[in-house]
Amino acid sequence: MFSMNIVTQDPENVKSILASDFKSYSTGLRYQQLSPLLGKGIFTSNGAYWKHSRAMLRPQFSRERITRLHLYEGHVVKLLDILKQGSIAITDKGNTLNSHESDGVDGLIDVQNLLLKLTMDTSTEFLFGQSLDTLSPDDAILKTSRSSYRSSQLNNAFDVCGKTLADRVRSGNLYFLFNNRKFRQCTKTIHNFVDDIIYDTLNGKGKNLPSEKVPDEAVDEGASFLEELSLETRDPIELRSQALNILLAGRSTTAGLLSFMLYFLVRNKSVWNQLRETVLATFGTDPENISYESIKRCTYLQHVINEVLRLCPLVPVNMRCAIKDTVLPRGGGEEEDMPIFVPKGSLVIYPVFLIHRLKQFWGEDAEEFRPDRWADNSFHTWDYIPFNGGPRICIGQQFALSEVSYVMIRLLQTFKDITTTQSVLDREFLQRTNLSSNVLGGVWVKFIE
Ligand code: HEM
Repeated sequence: MFSMNIVTQDPENVKSILASDFKSYSTGLRYQQLSPLLGKGIFTSNGAYWKHSRAMLRPQFSRERITRLHLYEGHVVKLLDILKQGSIAITDKGNTLNSHESDGVDGLIDVQNLLLKLTMDTSTEFLFGQSLDTLSPDDAILKTSRSSYRSSQLNNAFDVCGKTLADRVRSGNLYFLFNNRKFRQCTKTIHNFVDDIIYDTLNGKGKNLPSEKVPDEAVDEGASFLEELSLETRDPIELRSQALNILLAGRSTTAGLLSFMLYFLVRNKSVWNQLRETVLATFGTDPENISYESIKRCTYLQHVINEVLRLCPLVPVNMRCAIKDTVLPRGGGEEEDMPIFVPKGSLVIYPVFLIHRLKQFWGEDAEEFRPDRWADNSFHTWDYIPFNGGPRICIGQQFALSEVSYVMIRLLQTFKDITTTQSVLDREFLQRTNLSSNVLGGVWVKFIE
């Protein structure tokens, strides 16, 4: 209704939207849909403000910054401990398993739910310098000089806001229908928390902040994203918006990728075994051996990750809005191989999920999970876009890949096997797509030490 939509799965058209004709498109209503929580930041803006955001945030994703893998270890150990116990030691409102589905196997656990907690803990530590610590059995208290917050209260607020924002995105130009009191209250809770941390940072009460910016000098290893960013801008609203933009873009995507990986690994034991052998040969059992460089050398792990991202891209459908009259290179004429007119205001929708399964690019076995295809042929361009492409390519790509690799290596170092029941294996594979996708119903598995 009221707008023209073009749906295309032709990689040439995707290249045009995202790169060669980038200037003719915007991200449409994304700002209106997401701004109640996120404000104006890298993910929600277009044009000059987006360009400014991208330039300002780039140093935060420098190689030096994203190679601080030890940031994850404390949180990963908490995850491993829960998985060793084989039971959910903390109260959960997540997915449930019907009793017949456990087939008498004790200790099946929804690891997806735990991975969402893990990425909440690591991303709040990275961004704010204070982790929500949701993997801990205690309800952590996060203290600022102005107030203190319960972790459960903040976690619940993020949950409510995440769901409402997803509804607003899904409902297109009817987004304004989703704006109830609970959503507004939860937004306020999150804003208050982030604003208090920013207040402390700007008033020199941050833990690791250098007193003034020294050009080209590395900032303290322990400085948070907000502390480092406060050297670029002292506008508290801008600081809050950019931090929340990053949290939204990076947290559930990373948890989703890890969950899909474990979904495939429990169903493909030969891949699990080969991956475990490779990991033990490359890194041994000591977390100290894991570095950015050694991860990059572990090609089989890269192949498995690539294959999971191919079959389950975390943003399975994406779109852009034409901000002027333009053309797409393909789709017109009798043979649909000629340019086609795109009137200003049209939405161009590209289903990444389908592009990643096109037989003309991926072969007859395109629907199959086969990591070795990346050893046979790793050359793909616009037919493989799990992180998008062009000027707006995911800024956190290397950050995400190093976190996912680190967590997977730690799981493989600790557990010799991963199992589940026949009833769980028999479940139909359904994905849930909110702002990014994950496995509907959870990933129910048991890890063997
Ligand atoms: C497996 C994990 C991830 C996947 C699959 C992923 C995928 C994507 C995709 C497809 C986009 C393009 C969205 C669009 O323009 O429509 C994007 C953008 C973005 N991602 Fe990621 N992402 C991941 C993790 C992360 C992480 C960990 C961070 C930050 C810590 C991050 C930060 C961002 C930001 C800020 C943008 C917006 C960039 C811009 O518009 O210039 N992402 N990501």
